Amino acid sequence: MAKPETYKNFIGGEWVGSVTGETFENRNPANHDELIGMFQASNQEDVDAAVEAASEAYKSWRLTPAPHRAELLFDLGHLINERKEEFARDMTREMGKVLKETRGDVQEAIDMTYYIAGEGRRMYGETTPSELPDKFAMSVRMPIGPTALITPWNFPMAIPSWKLIPALVCGNTVVFKPATDTPLSAYNLVKACEEVGIPKGVVNFVTGSGRNVGQPLVEHDGVKLISFTGSTTVGKGISQVCGRLNKKHSLEMGGKNPIIVMDDANLDLALDGCTWGAFGTTGQRCTASSRIIVQKGVLDEFTDRFVERAKNLKVGDGLDPATEMGPVINKSQLQKVEEYIEIGRQEGASLLTGGHRVETEATASGFFLEPTVFADVTPGMRIAQEEIFGPVTAIIPADDLGEAVDIANGTPYGLSSSIYTNDVRNSFVAMRDLFFGIVYVNAPTIGAEVHLPFGGTQDTGNGHREGGSTVLDVFSEWKTLYVDYSGRLQKAQQID
Ligand code: UN1
Repeated sequence: MAKPETYKNFIGGEWVGSVTGETFENRNPANHDELIGMFQASNQEDVDAAVEAASEAYKSWRLTPAPHRAELLFDLGHLINERKEEFARDMTREMGKVLKETRGDVQEAIDMTYYIAGEGRRMYGETTPSELPDKFAMSVRMPIGPTALITPWNFPMAIPSWKLIPALVCGNTVVFKPATDTPLSAYNLVKACEEVGIPKGVVNFVTGSGRNVGQPLVEHDGVKLISFTGSTTVGKGISQVCGRLNKKHSLEMGGKNPIIVMDDANLDLALDGCTWGAFGTTGQRCTASSRIIVQKGVLDEFTDRFVERAKNLKVGDGLDPATEMGPVINKSQLQKVEEYIEIGRQEGASLLTGGHRVETEATASGFFLEPTVFADVTPGMRIAQEEIFGPVTAIIPADDLGEAVDIANGTPYGLSSSIYTNDVRNSFVAMRDLFFGIVYVNAPTIGAEVHLPFGGTQDTGNGHREGGSTVLDVFSEWKTLYVDYSGRLQKAQQID
């Protein structure tokens, strides 16, 4: 077998090893014996060099007309599209989700790239009348500076693209630190940026741990903006540092996303949606449907049929076209999910299916867990409150819509929510009353599209939205311009 490749950092347009001389391994979660590559275990000095390169490049990148910046991004979109299959396969190998889904992940990056590249010729501000004669007033977006992108492993190309592309179109430069579980997909994205000719130093790439790379990036004076997706615990830590330093930061964190199934729902449709929402990506989405709140009239039928669906899902290597659900990302995550399964048992919930590792010859070297369904869950249980990030969902009974909405709203999170109903009144009440960043009607909690705002309330975020034109508010600052061409001092607010 060929020796696995050692991948480098990308700083100031050069591929360089870390000053530490150390590397870490990237292994396949479906087969831990497979070493995919070695990546740089970087430290503060590497971060310093990357930030310096980003600061230097910022001087000319911010002055490059946005439509020109965008032309490079359109080229990037084309290149990712050409390599979609190769990137998807690499992603399945390092992250585990099934090939159909990794193709979707790469597609989401393509969609985001084309969509936001279009902003290069829009990025609208406002022109508005002045209250004074011979005076012109308008607002424009300006870039912020070197930006740190800290991204998770569950969407190894899509989530980086949500940050990278808007950062660049707005005129910022970037230091990108990907999750240590998925550096290959990040490398593929950065390599593509290099190939389309994004100028040296505009995109820098530093791999390594949160402690040795992420933290120094957040604290670095030269980094003017942090964009983070990951756990609420880490995000709140970033917020504390950024609060102390008064640094702009955008956070996308956890979720405990509910689907409400009403008595009047189309049950077949709800079953399809709940199965995909709970077990797609092995439940490792911040949008995963980890709670299913079912009205009592359909509770028994829904539960029986849902358990049947979960039991029949084919778990295995994501590269096998027959596989419907891949492995959990790594050993510690597997253990964490197992701990939650134990907690659920001890809390008195009924474990109706799943709960064990999948142990066949084919899965022996991977982190495979059965699709797991708990029933008789009450809203206060830890398995109904805390983000598990694995193939585990909790069925919670409710008497009526009012109770279902209260249960849905009753966690610290607020990312995505859903209702299955055929009653237009129920759907509008849910759309009004669910305190979430996203509400779906007759669709599961996963599957957001790039051109609409993405993000959540409460502990899911800190008030920002990625996706949509709203993402531009993260990666730019507003500047208001007044031009007085009267030739005399004019005072606003009617002051003589
Ligand atoms: C995430 O899990 O962090 O809506 C992002 C979805 C995907 C994005 C998920 N488009 O499920």
